[in-house]
Amino acid sequence: MIQRLGILTGGGDAPGLNAVIRAVVKTACHDFTCDLLGIEDGYDGLVMDGKTRPLTPETVRGLVGRGGTVLGAANRGNPFAQRVVRGGQEMIEDISAQVVTGFERLGLDGLIVVGGDGTLRIATELGQRFGLPIVGVPKTIDNDLDGTDFTFGFDTALGVATEAFDRLHTTAESHHRVMVLELMGRDAGFIALQAGVAGDADAILIPEIAFDIDVVCNKIRQRVAAQRLFSLVAVAEGARPAGGAQIFRESGDALTAARLGGIGFQVGQAIEARTGRETRVTVLGHLQRGGTPSPRDRWLATRFGAAAVRLAASGGWGRMVGIRGMAIVDTRLEEATATPKRVDPDGEAVRMARGLGIVFG
Ligand code: F6P
Repeated sequence: MIQRLGILTGGGDAPGLNAVIRAVVKTACHDFTCDLLGIEDGYDGLVMDGKTRPLTPETVRGLVGRGGTVLGAANRGNPFAQRVVRGGQEMIEDISAQVVTGFERLGLDGLIVVGGDGTLRIATELGQRFGLPIVGVPKTIDNDLDGTDFTFGFDTALGVATEAFDRLHTTAESHHRVMVLELMGRDAGFIALQAGVAGDADAILIPEIAFDIDVVCNKIRQRVAAQRLFSLVAVAEGARPAGGAQIFRESGDALTAARLGGIGFQVGQAIEARTGRETRVTVLGHLQRGGTPSPRDRWLATRFGAAAVRLAASGGWGRMVGIRGMAIVDTRLEEATATPKRVDPDGEAVRMARGLGIVFG
């Protein structure tokens, strides 16, 4: 019998988070007469005072289409390696035991953790080390989590990226230019691949396939020879040239991941220098993450939220909800977070795109 559940959202936000929160609260209240406690700013809310609030069907009203997360998401705070200041000195400490104390103090029967790779790995470890009863809900615009065919947020990001290509297409054509669009995707190129195909790109550069800029330039030259005087190039932020490295805008440290960025400009400059074609670069950035979720993401997020409550009610702790085909499934968190999902360089999707004449460098 679950009587009191907590819910937190962690990591980078994704459109659909609020729809999950709403579905969790409504389902828990309607089907299980269970109370819901919202935990603010990821795991921080379990450690710090005053960062929880009761969630009721009234407080989540109207959230299905709202972007972001009303609970806040800490900037990737990790209780197993937390930056703390002691005696004026900054150090890294494992404060995970405080998460457990916080969980007990709040009188929770279980926790629903909505997050990506990092947040769900922490959930896995909290379950393994302390037996914390957790159900995971997969979230990321990158769609790079195993244990599910899709994460919510991806469809919205794909829509924004495809629309960007449609808009770049007309201006590229008018000015006979090459347009480079840098998209999110640290280690997974799903957004660049699918938006590139949907948006009619001529070249798609993704983290999974190291590229040769000459292959891209040759494609552009061939198009010019065929009187196609403009070209579109999709570049995932984590793409890198063969024999080269990813490009970072800010270096990271032991706790903070380095910030990628700049590969689009590097590719754009190289194309202009080598082909002599006028080139412009657009970086789509967080426009892919903000704003209202697509109908498909609202639908998926709502199904995930409702399924997470049912899983918790049936004692399915240590598991993550997901979707396989049309069906809602659940997988052990350890399994879902063991190996991140990547575009298969030799898979059907890439072969299909190559068959359309798209080059991957
Ligand atoms: O993990 C999702 C993601 O959108 C990545 O594709 C991107 O590298 C990262 O988040 C950027 O996040 P932030 O700017 O919040 O650090």
